[in-house]
Amino acid sequence: MSKERIGIYPGTFDPITKGHLHIIRRASKLVDKLVIGVAGNAGKTPIFNLEERVEMVKTDIANLHDKYCEIKVVAFDNLLIDFAKAHDAQFIIRGLRAVSDFEYEFQMTGMNAKLAPDIETIFLMASDSWQFVSSSFVKEIYRLGGDMKEVVTPHVLELLAEKYQKKINNI
Ligand code: COA
Repeated sequence: MSKERIGIYPGTFDPITKGHLHIIRRASKLVDKLVIGVAGNAGKTPIFNLEERVEMVKTDIANLHDKYCEIKVVAFDNLLIDFAKAHDAQFIIRGLRAVSDFEYEFQMTGMNAKLAPDIETIFLMASDSWQFVSSSFVKEIYRLGGDMKEVVTPHVLELLAEKYQKKINNI
């Protein structure tokens, strides 16, 4: 009997970008079930809290047309491999952009493989259009008045507007 293939796509998603969505769409062709793990504490200081990021990702996934498997969005605050095991996942899926991602991903994959040798990390190369996108750049460029509509969905654009407006009002 063949086992259901379950993949975890983890990240901070502060905010989710069209680059992430492109990886998610492609990953959904590879597994029977995809769990998007929204990290609570990845050593970053997100502008959107965990609940906001989970809701944001859920909305973008609900609006995603061509997905090929069941996709769940779940928050996690523990070790990635423990989160993967709790969901019976055999695969961790990561997007790989320019060479600069390689060293960090190499280390992370190595550590995760030591901790859980049965869980394979699969890399999907980001396509040309998304090679240079990062959530930090999205926030910085948006905050300074740059147009980000090619890079994030209209829903995320609204959330960014709300977030920065709030900050402006709070000053
Ligand atoms: N398109 C656009 N942007 C992309 C991208 C893509 N395809 N792939 C990655 N990025 C960007 C992200 O926007 C993010 O940008 P930022 O640094 O400006 O915020 C950056 O690349 C990396 O982000 P992401 O892929 O979301 O990973 P992360 O570094 O935020 O998350 C975790 C790392 C959560 C997977 C990792 O910290 C983790 O596993 N934590 C759990 C604890 C644990 O197990 N630690 C031990 C690990 S060995």
